[in-house]
Amino acid sequence: MNTTLNLDLGDRSYPIYIGSDLLTNVGLYHPHIRGRQVMLVSNETVAPLYLQRVAAVLDGYQLAQLVLPDGEEFKTLDVLNRIFSALLENRFNRNCCLVALGGGVIGDMTGFDAASYQRGVDFIQIPTTLLAQVDSSVGGKTGVNHALGKNMIGAFHQPRCVIIDTATLDTLDDRQFSAGLAEVIKYGLIEDADFFAWLEEHIDALLARDTTSLIYAIERSCLCKADIVAADERESGKRALLNLGHTFGHAIETGMGYGNWLHGEGVAAGMAMAADLSARHGWLSTEDVARVRALLTRARLPVDAPAEISRQQFLDLMSVDKKAVDGGLRLILLDAIGQAKITADYQPGLLDATLEPGLSLTGP
Ligand SMILES: NC(=O)c1ccc[n+]([C@@H]2O[C@H](COP(=O)([O-])OP(=O)(O)OC[C@H]3O[C@@H](n4cnc5c(N)ncnc54)[C@H](O)[C@@H]3O)[C@@H](O)[C@H]2O)c1
Ligand SMILES: [Zn+2]
Repeated sequence: MNTTLNLDLGDRSYPIYIGSDLLTNVGLYHPHIRGRQVMLVSNETVAPLYLQRVAAVLDGYQLAQLVLPDGEEFKTLDVLNRIFSALLENRFNRNCCLVALGGGVIGDMTGFDAASYQRGVDFIQIPTTLLAQVDSSVGGKTGVNHALGKNMIGAFHQPRCVIIDTATLDTLDDRQFSAGLAEVIKYGLIEDADFFAWLEEHIDALLARDTTSLIYAIERSCLCKADIVAADERESGKRALLNLGHTFGHAIETGMGYGNWLHGEGVAAGMAMAADLSARHGWLSTEDVARVRALLTRARLPVDAPAEISRQQFLDLMSVDKKAVDGGLRLILLDAIGQAKITADYQPGLLDATLEPGLSLTGP
């Protein structure tokens, strides 16, 4: 049932191990740790749950542990500096290895630390949220937030390996779990209609955190992201497809005040809006819009924009989204389920209609 994916990025290639109870699988770690020094980084929520088990596996190395405060608001240069300080205090050298144990926040920060400490050291990702397992663990983006913008300071740095233990999801709360499912559904919508159909069949098993279904869904999601990233490691073209639902979703996250809508919730409503706009152009059938909305709803995700955000507010927020390149706003829209496209070729009047608050979207 356990499986390994090999992400093919030339000399930066790495394996992604997916299975249950992998945390304590000693053999997964050793081949990827070059030196003797290992720094385990986690946060106050995840550490009490899993840190000791990972530390036990790394017994025998010169092991340092750092437990950071929990929350997106701590994904900052200040907190990052605490990791640098710990590395220097422990006299960690260039052969050290950082291990990130936690969700996307811990993964992004630890990864960025590894990217820049002594101009780059190794790191291993152990993502413990569904979102981190299917999204941030693939692709090598690392970084922190700045007061003036999210993820504005960062680097590309690939891990030595990723260890995804589906058993860690047992302790994740339902809302965070569903937010991760939004990204899983996104992959089906972008380029994998069969996977979307599989999700329609297995969404209840996933919500029940059935191990076999989880492993399959995570594997397929990582494959899909890996496929897109391998085609476009530094985000010049195809990688933008991964932003399906995100331009709308970021506007919702910001407009509602950070933290009120989870990222995945904004993305879910954003994908429903992208489907709506696509249907208004006659690109996507109304039946497919209905399928999108139904699957998201069954995954316990929102499918409508909050009425509090006006059309003008939406347009303003969307135009500052960093994916708006050269003034023209490009959107990721759908020709079919499993067939997304990047386009600036949409009609502003139809976008206005999609953004009209309280107006019900095309659908069931
Ligand atoms: N690098 C990338 O490509 C990439 C992609 C997507 C998102 N991200 C980043 O990831 C972050 C979001 O990630 P996230 O959704 O994992 O958020 P997160 O790291 O804040 O985790 C969400 C919450 O779940 C808790 N948690 C984590 N694992 C748990 C477990 N197993 N059991 C119980 N609680 C657990 C965390 O402590 C936190 O409170 C954002 O900062 C985003 O920018 C990066
Ligand atoms: Zn996302």
